[in-house]
Amino acid sequence: MDMIRLDKLLSNMGYGSRSEIKKMINKGNVSVDRKVVRDPSCKVNPKESHVAFEGKQVIYRKFTYLMLNKPAGVVSSTDSKDINVIDILDEEYKYINLFPAGRLDKDTEGLIILTNDGLMAHNILSPKKKVEKKYYVEIDGSLTRNQVETLENGVILEDGDRCLPSRLEIVEEDEILCKLKLFIMEGKYHQVKRMFASLGRRVTYLKRISVGAIVLDENLKTGEYRELSEIELKNLPVSED
Ligand code: URA
Repeated sequence: MDMIRLDKLLSNMGYGSRSEIKKMINKGNVSVDRKVVRDPSCKVNPKESHVAFEGKQVIYRKFTYLMLNKPAGVVSSTDSKDINVIDILDEEYKYINLFPAGRLDKDTEGLIILTNDGLMAHNILSPKKKVEKKYYVEIDGSLTRNQVETLENGVILEDGDRCLPSRLEIVEEDEILCKLKLFIMEGKYHQVKRMFASLGRRVTYLKRISVGAIVLDENLKTGEYRELSEIELKNLPVSED
């Protein structure tokens, strides 16, 4: 494995910003192979060198993967003025270049995978890979049999763009509210809302439940997150460490 700078290793592991880390190293808080090192540019082997911060070993991982239950009111895009999905994370996750693998609208809740593994993100987002996403949807009225078939065959959006066939499971419905689960293979802009809008229905609540094999943990309240487990990572096209 390639040697990297000590300050880069610590910042990749979320120990602070590069300048904060430089200060900590200068102060003598960091050791390499059990000797205090005060030079931030010192080169270490992330897999083999024994790096410790304040006496505790720093376990190196190249990439981080989190599942977040996004609350409404928080945006996915990290270049907006609004509070975004990275802003709501603990300090240790703020400096490791996490980004959302796929976006949800500001008013949508549910599963977002946050990672710094760009290749994995590309693999689950690429339309060619046809990764299935499951949404729980509420709309303002029932659907006719014809409308369900239209969604199943591939609805044409108002701008003329045709969606791939989708799958639907109605949970319950009456004249003013229909609750359903929707399975789609794409991630077009505002896709779910636009699919129903083209049928004259308005989405009143939207939550993403799964992306491929990764299912939102029911124990995560909105705004909560956790790292993906080893088993979950086995089901993701993650990059080599
Ligand atoms: N489709 C939408 O319309 N909005 C989302 O947030 C996700 C899918």
